Amino acid sequence: MTSSDTGQSTSGVDGYRELPFSIMRVNERYEFDIYIRIKDDHRLFAASGALFTEDHGKLLKDGNTKLYVRDDDWSKVEDYKSRYLSSILTDPKVSAHEKADVAFSTSMKSIRDVFESTESRTVKHVEKNAEEMVRLILREDEVMDNLIWINSHDHYTYQHSVRVGIYATALSIKLFGSKLTKKEMVDLSAGYFLHDIGMAQVPLKILDKQTPLSPTEWGIIRMHPMWGYDRLLETGHLTPEAAAIVLSHHERDNGSGYPFAREGEGIPVYAKICAIADMFESLTAIRPYRQQKDPFQALKLMQDEMSDEFDPELFKAFVMLLGPRSEA
Ligand SMILES: [Fe+2]
Ligand SMILES: [Fe+2]
Repeated sequence: MTSSDTGQSTSGVDGYRELPFSIMRVNERYEFDIYIRIKDDHRLFAASGALFTEDHGKLLKDGNTKLYVRDDDWSKVEDYKSRYLSSILTDPKVSAHEKADVAFSTSMKSIRDVFESTESRTVKHVEKNAEEMVRLILREDEVMDNLIWINSHDHYTYQHSVRVGIYATALSIKLFGSKLTKKEMVDLSAGYFLHDIGMAQVPLKILDKQTPLSPTEWGIIRMHPMWGYDRLLETGHLTPEAAAIVLSHHERDNGSGYPFAREGEGIPVYAKICAIADMFESLTAIRPYRQQKDPFQALKLMQDEMSDEFDPELFKAFVMLLGPRSEA
């Protein structure tokens, strides 16, 4: 897989990263210098603040010319990508189906980024098995509206929610696909996609904080399962299973979780699945100021250091599903 497929590349040895052409819009001003490569040299193509014109776009239509940004400007590119996705999601001219497709494809792309260094059949397996279900769930107005609401508060929680939704849905299909009806699976999946909806009530100054949180701030974060549960109960659309996911996704098998420090059998199975997907996503997510782990490192860390926190059978199934060396 090339970096242009994924739209995300690792830090270039020469100090530049490839900029995916698919996110560029003409008649837009960008806050970063854009370069093209001629032989081994990077030449300025469009300066920061200048209009990226139709002519710029035409020059790139041949598909052979690639765009580059300096490493130290990459955070500006990430900011732009977030705004671009947000503007599509909130645009009233874009249909609900198109929004669902954009939400799905951008999330799958970022999941592919995470798996870039591993064997891609893992991602293909997820796509093959969960794609139809995930598209269905994202086309539910209730789910998409709530995700857009999360996005308007905090883009990272939105990205995290969709990716956890995809992982947990894929594992649930693998484990329970033959027992649940399509309607039951869609209802369940809604719980996964909206598991962190309560985070939209956590003040941004806490979510964005780069320094360690105080005990009071942790206390506020730990309210999010209850806040999410209350919000979804008010709307009355979630099934009891989905509501249990929202409420119990931070409970841990060994009783170290919250809000109720439930243990083992006391935690609903779907919440346990969400907990595994949630931890895996948090460890592998690409975030500013934090080094993400590759899938193998993340699963190894969960196995070595958190094994009593997760249901062993469910964790094993998750490794079989996503593990970089699995035969899934
Ligand atoms: Fe959470
Ligand atoms: Fe989460």
